[in-house]
Amino acid sequence: MKIFLDTANIDEIRQGARLGAVHGVTTNPSLAAKEGIGAASAYKAAVQEIADIIDGPISVEVVSTDVEGMISEGRDIAEWIPNPWVKLPSTTEGLEAMATLTRDNIKVNQTLCFSVNQALLGAHCGATAVSPFVGRLDDIGHDGMQLVRDIVEIFRQYNLKTEVLAASLRHPLHCIQAAKVGADIATMPFSVFGQMLKHPLTDAGQARFLQDWNKASK
Ligand code: G3P
Repeated sequence: MKIFLDTANIDEIRQGARLGAVHGVTTNPSLAAKEGIGAASAYKAAVQEIADIIDGPISVEVVSTDVEGMISEGRDIAEWIPNPWVKLPSTTEGLEAMATLTRDNIKVNQTLCFSVNQALLGAHCGATAVSPFVGRLDDIGHDGMQLVRDIVEIFRQYNLKTEVLAASLRHPLHCIQAAKVGADIATMPFSVFGQMLKHPLTDAGQARFLQDWNKASK
């Protein structure tokens, strides 16, 4: 399972990149707004900076709601960086735009996916990745990871090439579960990425090793 960071924060992306375990980045309008980005030109500049740091796919979301607008934004985004994935919503307009963009070989990440049927239609539309939102389903009392499991199973059964990108992950257990159910990619906030590495016994063990060494070397 590849690891993507779900953030538009450049410092977090730099820190993640230093660990060498980040394969891509996903952004969305909310994450951009959180960083004070409020214009297409600023979003473009941030995405270009991210692409200079991470040698992998960078997902950039359209903000248009009509098909023509999504197509035009998608074509524009596709020129920004070497490895763009245009994020399109799981709506009628999103899928219609997806059909056109994928025909032009532009890679698409189908976002806001909350059902197997949405994922299946996106795969047939040529999505490079589909993003089931685990945490947001959990939030309303559904089993978000079951959706990832079902999509993985069905895509494998029919040999569909669309990658399953587990998104809206909120805690390190989500990462383990996503890996167990066979997600191709997990995208997560930087805080969750940090939690994947953290273990109190590692910290205590390291402190003990150094304490013992310092005592012996006196
Ligand atoms: O990748 C999707 C993600 O940004 C949504 O996460 O926590 O806002 O549901 P969240």
